[in-house]
Amino acid sequence: MSDSDANKMWGGRFKMSPAEIMERINASIDFDQRLARDDLAGSKAHAAMLAATGIISNGDKAAIYKGLDQVADEIAAGTFQYSRALEDVHMNIESRLQELIGEPAGRLHTARSRNDQVATDFRLYVRGGLDAFVTALAGLQVVLARKARTHAATVMPGFTHLQPAQPVTFGHHLLAYVEMFSRDRGRFQDARVRLNECPLGAAALAGTSFPIDRHATANALGFDRPTANSLDSVSDRDFVLETLAAATICAVHLSRMAEEIVLWVTPQFGFLKLSDRFTTGSSIMPQKRNPDAAELCRAKVGRIAGALNSLVIVMKGLPLAYSKDMQEDKEVAFDAFDSLNLAIAAMTGMVEDMQPQPEAMRKAAGYGYSTATDLADWLVRELKMPFRQAHHVTGSIVALAEKDGVDLAGLPLAAMQSVEPRITDAVFSVLSVENSVASRTSYGGTAPHNVEKSAADWVSRLEKEQQTG
Ligand code: ARG
Repeated sequence: MSDSDANKMWGGRFKMSPAEIMERINASIDFDQRLARDDLAGSKAHAAMLAATGIISNGDKAAIYKGLDQVADEIAAGTFQYSRALEDVHMNIESRLQELIGEPAGRLHTARSRNDQVATDFRLYVRGGLDAFVTALAGLQVVLARKARTHAATVMPGFTHLQPAQPVTFGHHLLAYVEMFSRDRGRFQDARVRLNECPLGAAALAGTSFPIDRHATANALGFDRPTANSLDSVSDRDFVLETLAAATICAVHLSRMAEEIVLWVTPQFGFLKLSDRFTTGSSIMPQKRNPDAAELCRAKVGRIAGALNSLVIVMKGLPLAYSKDMQEDKEVAFDAFDSLNLAIAAMTGMVEDMQPQPEAMRKAAGYGYSTATDLADWLVRELKMPFRQAHHVTGSIVALAEKDGVDLAGLPLAAMQSVEPRITDAVFSVLSVENSVASRTSYGGTAPHNVEKSAADWVSRLEKEQQTG
């Protein structure tokens, strides 16, 4: 082997090939090939800028463009040969470009380093990921809001401590998740704003002596502006951390919703049914129908929060500027992105698929003296009783009902009057679950009228958004 062949990338200085284990720990090509598209875009923007500023000739730029297009075709066709000996996606593409166009390929890396290159590529990739989350969540929100509109008046128990608390409507419950996903979208959109600065041209860490135009490359790649400090440009991974933090919160929301589906499809709750499309059977128990998709949505937060935790620990204590540690940012992020996309899609499918069981919901809504607060409120309103005292009186009435094994509406007026003589039979009008929800007309409350309006607003807002893209 001649000297120049001994090391494929650094033949000038290096006389020996890397140890096999060195290559294995060092190479990122097995996973960073996902960045190929972004890398090609970054290289084109860089080459165009180099030509526009006279750093390379227009002829070289044209040759580079042609070569990069061919590389893109090979990657799309699956014929591109990735090599571990070439470490990463950047060197793989540059090496192939060299084979295809010869000398001009060697000029592409002028005024650029892999440090600013990877930072740029990854920002582009994460930006695409953020946009995809925002779109996918809108899809989930719209199916939730449509279902909420259908079930604006479907009464179910509302819980605190997972104990029956007060009746609510199923539509109201679904809209709670629409709000959560709306905040998630906001977090992704906020992260995008801070992400959208271009590190390209920071070079290895200090900037470059060539008369580059960083504003031009930033602009060509859809960034708002170039990053301001070259050291920060190559050592910053906040854009990944922020995205993973927002993804973790979103995954927490999906997990909570998934847990409710898991609970509600049990025969004990029976609030929902899922079809064959979103359930599995058991290999031994023929009667089983398991909500595996919901369980997996519940679990995905583990990987996503794990990715955030992993990258926080990688970045902690790293001195400026670039260190190879930062190569560990990608696999966990890719996995988190895949997991979140999958969980959002599965949840969207489940929401469309789920069949609410209004009978079971209504029945359960009456359990546990869930209209006791309505009784207390009636005492306050009609008898001008201080709420604390009304709470006490109601507690005694609930105890009576419990002793007799009836619900509040089933307790005779005389029994109530034995606790508070001023109670009249007008009280019965507030004790049904329907009256209870209908009375919750305060802003953001569960009254069907509120829910109907809020659901309709969401549907039209989201549908409009989907139309305008
Ligand atoms: N594969 C590397 C990464 O993902 C690219 C940057 C390499 N830079 C370097 N100085 N070795 O971080």
